[in-house]
Amino acid sequence: MAILSIDPDRAARLLNIGPLVIVSTTYQGITNAMPLAWICPMGYNPATISLVMNRGAYTRVLVEKSGHFMVQIPVADQLDTIISLGTQSLADNPNKLAESGLELFTVEEARGLPMMQGAVAWLLCSLIPDQYLNEHSNMLIARVEQAWVAEEVFDNGYWDLDNCPPEKSPLHYVAGGKFYTVGKKIEVANLD
Ligand SMILES: Cc1cc2nc3c(=O)[nH]c(=O)nc-3n(C[C@H](O)[C@H](O)[C@H](O)COP(=O)(O)O)c2cc1C
Repeated sequence: MAILSIDPDRAARLLNIGPLVIVSTTYQGITNAMPLAWICPMGYNPATISLVMNRGAYTRVLVEKSGHFMVQIPVADQLDTIISLGTQSLADNPNKLAESGLELFTVEEARGLPMMQGAVAWLLCSLIPDQYLNEHSNMLIARVEQAWVAEEVFDNGYWDLDNCPPEKSPLHYVAGGKFYTVGKKIEVANLD
């Protein structure tokens, strides 16, 4: 097999096969949402995650003010909405959400945070203030307070995407407008 040397500045693309997510939040009556590919689990207990969110994103401004946000995992047939949310800013277009076709709901335990209809998983997160990261990076870290998953894609504590049609698959984003749906499962015994 030939191997290609690539620019280290592009190395994140190699690692970036976790799910594309939508981050949504609301603050003082302003609700916004944006797609985000750079997200990573950091720990189990307490459950923590990291996200890289550029400072130009209006969603980030609202996340920092509110301190709470929802991370959700959309599916392939929501791609038009995802692209619409990710190619314009609420700061420029007050109708961004309505025009994107995004449908929102919430549940009692979600503290009024907007949840994306049609997504397959939702994580309610609280920002963990970190002065170093704030000064030196675009990274945010957060604690996952609650999580929900669509029962048709979850079985016995794990994703179960075996019978998931491609249009209902979570997405991987590798930049350049290229997305993948989830591939075939390979199962290995005795690993948790
Ligand atoms: C597929 C996709 C993935 C994206 N991933 C990220 C990301 O990981 N981090 C980020 O800061 N912006 C990311 N963006 C860009 C934001 O979603 C975009 O700047 C958005 O318009 C911000 O909207 P807002 O200003 O209304 O919050 C992505 C956009 C797309 C379309």
